[in-house]
Amino acid sequence: MTALLATRIVPADAASVAEAARVLATGGLVAFPTETVYGLGADATNGRGIARLYEAKGRPAFNPLIAHVLDQRAALALARFNADAKRLAAAFWPGPLTLVLPKAADCPVAELATAGLDTIAVRVPSHRVARDILNAFGRPVVAPSANRSGHVSPTNAEHVQADLSGRIDLIVDSGPTPVGLESTIVACLDKPALLRPGGVPRAAIERTIGRRLGGAEAQASGDDDAPLAPGMLASHYAPRTRLRLNISRVAPGEALLAFGPALAEGGERSKKILNLSPRGDLVEAAANLFSHLRALDAAGGSAIAVMPIPADGLGEAINDRLARAAAGR
Ligand code: TXA
Ligand code: MG
Repeated sequence: MTALLATRIVPADAASVAEAARVLATGGLVAFPTETVYGLGADATNGRGIARLYEAKGRPAFNPLIAHVLDQRAALALARFNADAKRLAAAFWPGPLTLVLPKAADCPVAELATAGLDTIAVRVPSHRVARDILNAFGRPVVAPSANRSGHVSPTNAEHVQADLSGRIDLIVDSGPTPVGLESTIVACLDKPALLRPGGVPRAAIERTIGRRLGGAEAQASGDDDAPLAPGMLASHYAPRTRLRLNISRVAPGEALLAFGPALAEGGERSKKILNLSPRGDLVEAAANLFSHLRALDAAGGSAIAVMPIPADGLGEAINDRLARAAAGR
């Protein structure tokens, strides 16, 4: 463990964007908002900075990072695009989609960031502040979600502070993130495959490429036994409190994560109730998911009871995160 840093939290403005770029240029760590969740950024070309990033997160170094760039032109310097990748980039960038692609021959991203894989995850974020920082910095920025490894992703600056204060240099604060779920990750290698459901629903991606997405197992990985979505450990997104999913009634002492206008049986007696979307809107539910999970985790209930969430649209990603949060606890 390194010495404690004096982490500063600053509102997003021209001065803090310029400072973020300076900190990145010296190998420092900057948390900043994207449209999905807050990211913890480091200079993608600086192996030492990336090593500090893994240490700050407490993340196993075999878990590769997403490289963030301003536009597809910048992405072309990092990775090779096949026809599917070109279509997806044209349709969804900038936005909450990450593409896993073959690394370009002269890719400047440090080996440590791609954990020895010959592929690289690339994303073009749409959030104004993320873009301003990328523009001011002028190089790719690797950024995992700005949480301690194993915790749920941060959707506001206070979440980042709670997890990483003393371990990073700067937090650029611009309030809650609009999407609230991490980006969808699609591998465009051989057959297109959905590695992680996220902010762009599966159906929109399948419409764009005109065919069905395989799962991670659909990838022809040859004899390479490196896992394709190595970060998708079963219990990756875990609160401390046990989760009970798809409940129809709440047990005494439990906290309730509700969805829709009607509460589950016994809901009014729960330790604490938070509703992802009283009107049953999955976009609103996604935006609230991680902050509600954090707040209910802190409520000290015997468990967090979770009402059923529909599986369509963003519901696939929401249910994926809930299943991971519930796994192995
Ligand atoms: O929305 C997001 O994607 C956020 C914001 C900050 O951009 N970032 C994010 O990063 O969620 P992270 O590190 O928490 O999750 C990235 C996931 C991990 O599961 C990692 O294993 C996977 O992407 N990944 C990265 N590079 C990969 C590669 N070459 N092949 C397969 N999976 C990869
Ligand atoms: Mg993460």
